[in-house]
Amino acid sequence: MEQSIESYIRNLVRDVIGQTLGGLQIQGDRQTYVIANWKMNKTLAETAEFFQELNSSKDVTVVVCPPAQLLYPAHLFIKQSGKPVHLGAQNVHWADKGAYTGETSISMLKDVGCEYVIIGHSERRQYAGEDDSLVNMKVKQALSAGLTPIICIGETLEQKNSLQTEEVLASQLFGALNKIDSSQFIIAYEPVWAIGTGQSATAELAQQTHTYIRSVLKQIFGEKAESISILYGGSANESNAAEYSKMPDIDGVLVGGASLKAKSFDGMIKVFAKGDQN
Ligand code: PGA
Repeated sequence: MEQSIESYIRNLVRDVIGQTLGGLQIQGDRQTYVIANWKMNKTLAETAEFFQELNSSKDVTVVVCPPAQLLYPAHLFIKQSGKPVHLGAQNVHWADKGAYTGETSISMLKDVGCEYVIIGHSERRQYAGEDDSLVNMKVKQALSAGLTPIICIGETLEQKNSLQTEEVLASQLFGALNKIDSSQFIIAYEPVWAIGTGQSATAELAQQTHTYIRSVLKQIFGEKAESISILYGGSANESNAAEYSKMPDIDGVLVGGASLKAKSFDGMIKVFAKGDQN
């Protein structure tokens, strides 16, 4: 909680300075995140065990996103452990409440201690038919409740092979951020071909793509785009984390498979915590 107030103030100061000094370049002071996306994995007992084993670190912002029914117990386990870990959800509905069977509202997420919410993950785009305008509605909903959206974008292998990566990313960004003034969100670049495949993007390719993403964010938000964290996701693990952490525009990672074991997730936290102190 303390850390999120601190980061809120830091971002606010950055925004104000950015507006006052117009073209000033504000670099190297973006928040670094290591975020776990557990997807549809883990029981209650496994969740308890994970938080017992996790060490975490104050030097990066660590967020764990369990499935919806494990959010509240996870909140309690985190509180009990006293470890610097924040809670995030994997999805949210765009409406405040009502007749939406099986859905979870933003106030429900807030109620159980969530500060972050993943929106527009490619698996939701693929299996639940989410498109950019739905993503946009969900981002607005999260921002209005003060939760930080982690907005996922990324191209498929087919789009990559037909050299459409930039076009796809730009259209996903303009769609997700339509009529949004606040820059209090996180972007996760997750090439679909790299998710769960073991075929991670090289750190150089990810850096190059993040530079492009930031250029699009600059078209929308001007210099405020310098303060938006852009994470890489897609088969990130303990072995490749160090390479990503060295890149100036890779501000952390969104981790699926390698976040399920506390030890390997901790390994990645350590890598980024070290990078942040350099
Ligand atoms: P992965 O998943 O690390 O298992 O590739 C990442 C994600 O989908 O967020």
